[in-house]
Amino acid sequence: MLALEGVCAGYGQSRVLESVGISVAEGEAVTLLGRNGVGKTTLLRTIVGLHPAEQGIIKLNNEDITDFPAYKRARKGIGYVPQGRGIFPHLTVDENLRTGFASLTGRTGGERETIPKYVYELFPLLNRVAARKGGVLSGGEQQQLALARALVAQPKLLILDEPTEGIQPSIVQQIEEALREIRTRLKIAILLVEQYLDFAWSIADRFYVMRSGRIIDEGNPREREPGSVIHWLNV
Ligand SMILES: Nc1ncnc2c1ncn2[C@@H]1O[C@H](COP(=O)(O)OP(=O)(O)OP(=O)(O)O)[C@@H](O)[C@H]1O
Ligand SMILES: [Mg+2]
Repeated sequence: MLALEGVCAGYGQSRVLESVGISVAEGEAVTLLGRNGVGKTTLLRTIVGLHPAEQGIIKLNNEDITDFPAYKRARKGIGYVPQGRGIFPHLTVDENLRTGFASLTGRTGGERETIPKYVYELFPLLNRVAARKGGVLSGGEQQQLALARALVAQPKLLILDEPTEGIQPSIVQQIEEALREIRTRLKIAILLVEQYLDFAWSIADRFYVMRSGRIIDEGNPREREPGSVIHWLNV
């Protein structure tokens, strides 16, 4: 479904990504692991169209999307939950969810656009707090809102940047269950950047390890011990 070949990107003179090649198959869950600052967020932003690739090709379902703007990639089925969640603190939960339509249309979804039912089924909490401002929610609630917002646009591939960062362990479990549902029931493929190794290991069909902007290892969590990659992480 998603395939990158030789992708290079950086900031000004400084090269961050060095010839990255990764793929995600339809319905697959893939995790990208690596220490702070190795280029994980830069890679995700390059995939979703928020950062330019200097070299290489990004393909979605065999179509070259390397030069597509972000909204066009969203329309093609790429959903994105950024690091730090990126919700709007002064908008209500319902209004935040409606901004999910904007990734497709370039404008916020009005009253007439209906939030897909499965969004509330997956996150019943959001129904109860629909009128509250995003900013008053707990970290875990905000993460659920960020995930739900990405689902509003009905993506085929969901890209998540450290969804468990700064979230208490009991809520991490809820997010793990939601991701499982997203995969198995909604059949949405997942590309997950994660520092929390147990979480990544239990969800993913495949992993990649990044170091200094390069992919240095890949494998199947069912066939590999988490200990074999732990020295490449911050833990
Ligand atoms: N806007 C920017 N301008 C210049 N350099 C940047 C910018 N954003 C990131 N960098 C640099 O690019 C490198 C990779 O950063 P990136 O955020 O992609 O790493 P990361 O793996 O996501 O880290 P973390 O685990 O801390 O989120 C780092 O050296 C960082 O300092
Ligand atoms: Mg990051």
